[in-house]
Amino acid sequence: MDSIDWKCLPFGYIKTDYNVRSYFRDGKWSKLELSTSEYLNVHMAATGLHYGQEAFEGMKAYKGSDGKIRLFRWEENAQRLIFSAKGVMMAEVPPTMFREAVMTAVRKNERFVPPYGSGATLYIRPLLFGSGAEVGVKPAKEYDFVVFVTPVGPYFKGGIRPVETLITREYDRAAPLGTGRLKVGGNYAASLRAIIKARDEGYGNTLFLDAREKKYIDECGPANFFGIKGNTYITPKSESILASITNKSLMQIAESIGMKVEVRPVLVDELSAFDEVGACGTAAVISPIGKIVDTGTKAVYEFCKNGEPGPYTMKLYKQLTGIQSGDVEDTFGWMTVVE
Ligand SMILES: Cc1ncc(COP(=O)(O)O)c(C=O)c1O
Repeated sequence: MDSIDWKCLPFGYIKTDYNVRSYFRDGKWSKLELSTSEYLNVHMAATGLHYGQEAFEGMKAYKGSDGKIRLFRWEENAQRLIFSAKGVMMAEVPPTMFREAVMTAVRKNERFVPPYGSGATLYIRPLLFGSGAEVGVKPAKEYDFVVFVTPVGPYFKGGIRPVETLITREYDRAAPLGTGRLKVGGNYAASLRAIIKARDEGYGNTLFLDAREKKYIDECGPANFFGIKGNTYITPKSESILASITNKSLMQIAESIGMKVEVRPVLVDELSAFDEVGACGTAAVISPIGKIVDTGTKAVYEFCKNGEPGPYTMKLYKQLTGIQSGDVEDTFGWMTVVE
């Protein structure tokens, strides 16, 4: 391996040594296998390719100042993958197998875990898809489960910075009773036109509204939305958004530092009443929003007028990243050491 410049790593894919695989055949999962190949041998009629029987997870391993590698809330990712699997009728990966696959993938690629203090982390991508051949629309009888890892740089290279966000009215990411709560590839395909349009127009992210009425805030690209009003952390309740593990954790931290937490429908019009707003997810933890532009209503909402993230955003960000790096005591019991 050429030596990696941890400080200049992109948020992208870099080949590592091993990935871990298991195959669901004849009604049961095979023993976990190690592979050095970056490729899968997939049947051309696999349901994962045709009918979107596919789900994935995104999580990270962190090197602490004590040299130990830790996973953040892996059980939540395991449960969410089960929820996604149920949603598109795939075989479920048992949490014990999920844990072992993730732990093995991290252990076997230990030399790719970025050092403490570099800001970089090891991104972990568990993937589940229908690999059995079907031509009629029905669930496959066979599934493949793969876990690969890749080191990723910090989301914000020069420190956490507010981004500008465009409200999307032309495209929906998910239907109200559709697959929005699942981490399935189809939702990301559906979000691409809006994300690329926002990017092409110079915005860092896009804000999806509820598909039914276009009155409420749903999600912020591949992240949940939150707003802070006074001492209250407010985040949308919606039947078409992914339940973010970062958001869940920020709510718990917010309560622990004496903030109030509200999970409820959030009207777009309410944006003008927020003191701070942001997007949250595994990739960036928090991406503060400096400005939101609604080309439909021509409304412009501005935050962080001094160019700096707000005080509550920073407090929550520091607390959560501190727990993940091991610098702040993990009173919630969220971290698991990779032995
Ligand atoms: C659509 C969507 N919403 C929210 C999130 C944030 O979820 P988490 O905090 O579990 O990474 C993600 C990223 O995983 C996502 O893809």
